[in-house]
Amino acid sequence: MNVLHLSAECYPVAKAGGLGDVVGALPKYQVGLGINAMVAMPYYDKKFVKEHPFDTVFRGTSKLGYRSFDFEILKETTDVLGFELYLVRIPELLDRPEIYSYPDEREQFVAFQLAILDWIIKTEKSIDVFHCHDHHTGLIPFLIQYSSNFSTLAKIPSVFTIHNGQYQGWMGWDKFHYLPGVDPSKGGLLEWNNCINPLAAAVKCCWKYTTVSPSYLQELKINSNGLEFLFELEGEKGIGILNGIDTEVWDPAKDPMLSFNYTKTTVKSGKEKNKAEICHAYGLNPDKPLFTFIGRLVLEKGAEKLAELIKEMMLRNADEFSFLLLGSGEKDIERDLKEIQTYLKNYNCYIGYDEQLSHQIYSGADFILMPSRVEPCGLNQLYALRYGTIPIVRTTGGLKDSVIDVQDEGGYGIRFENLELMEMIVAMQRAIALYQNQKKINQLRKQMMELDFSWNKSAQQYVELYKSLTLIP
Ligand code: ADP
Ligand code: GLC
Repeated sequence: MNVLHLSAECYPVAKAGGLGDVVGALPKYQVGLGINAMVAMPYYDKKFVKEHPFDTVFRGTSKLGYRSFDFEILKETTDVLGFELYLVRIPELLDRPEIYSYPDEREQFVAFQLAILDWIIKTEKSIDVFHCHDHHTGLIPFLIQYSSNFSTLAKIPSVFTIHNGQYQGWMGWDKFHYLPGVDPSKGGLLEWNNCINPLAAAVKCCWKYTTVSPSYLQELKINSNGLEFLFELEGEKGIGILNGIDTEVWDPAKDPMLSFNYTKTTVKSGKEKNKAEICHAYGLNPDKPLFTFIGRLVLEKGAEKLAELIKEMMLRNADEFSFLLLGSGEKDIERDLKEIQTYLKNYNCYIGYDEQLSHQIYSGADFILMPSRVEPCGLNQLYALRYGTIPIVRTTGGLKDSVIDVQDEGGYGIRFENLELMEMIVAMQRAIALYQNQKKINQLRKQMMELDFSWNKSAQQYVELYKSLTLIP
């Protein structure tokens, strides 16, 4: 079975967050299950593409409204990722260093989708399932069914995975002419709140949509940035499948980004050494429990609460913990987190994106804090578990589905319900108290490292889903 994943990100080619991790891992595990899973993504001018060999497998010309554009499809020749990787390169549109944040982002992603469909039609490439990820690829299920340009693809099933329902790719109707061969009477399928909404269009037109955790499937009906009613209406088509992690990339026993590798038998000394190293580098006291936050500094992650929380905790529990933060995002949140650094001891932050540092922190920290407002799945807590780091999470989305409170049977983490300062303080104080019992901490670390959150199970669930749609055994 030929499954084409379409995504804006794929680790290690280009990653801004968890979407990249998922699309870099899921296809590899699916190949292991006997499926020909492939990935097509935009070309970015990044290290990976400079360091790997690519062949141009197709050259074409397409149109974005009245503007013609040339594009080429590049295929990585060594299969280094464990699956076929295709990049769409469009000079002056899809050949830039960043993944997101250009003013013509809409044009970039529409052109990406049109180029992909043109390539598939012209080469008669055999595709059994289109698996689209997030709004950047959300027009595909619509285009294959309702554009006369792509009618030969109309019967191919499409699966749409929602990693983040907050971002929907809205665009004005002035861009409708970007979509070729579409009868205006079908415009309603693209529409939500007077805009073209690629996420809504995908939910309406795909054969099945999935969310990256079962809880998030339900939560979208209550909180989805305006699409609640749509998720209620289309609920029958939705399935929640919890993400997994790539246990080859995220393996404390072999991780080349760590100075000290460790297994569950050597976790105590391994974590201690990594902690000492990182605390030394960031001027923190290694004898205290080390807390961390890693991630995008945005409201979704509850990041605007962090500066106040850390400050308040330093007042109440002075000298009882260290905090190292890694993240980037909204400028005012970054500013607040840097400002408290000027007068707090045992707190440091690295504002920016650093893959290696993230691995070092997962391994060296004792606790990871995730006060997310919305968390469709969350991978940080899964990486933390694998590295023996105790997650402290708000009970939402994938956090709710993957972290059991230590007070409950079989539990290993700390949960809190509301994004209230006092609840977060209590959660951190519970962690500090727990840390005093080193025997328990070590038992929890071993227990967490034994949990299996690898892709094995979830990749199989997707394969079952494809089979049910294609009737391919
Ligand atoms: P999201 O995709 O919403 O940002 P996830 O928890 O699914 O959240 O995934 C975040 C991924 O991005 C993890 O792999 C995490 O380690 C990584 N990450 C986030 N911020 C940074 C950063 N500043 N530096 C390095 N890695 C980061
Ligand atoms: C999104 C979500 C995150 C999820 C990731 C991968 O970025 O915010 O919760 O883990 O996608 O599915």
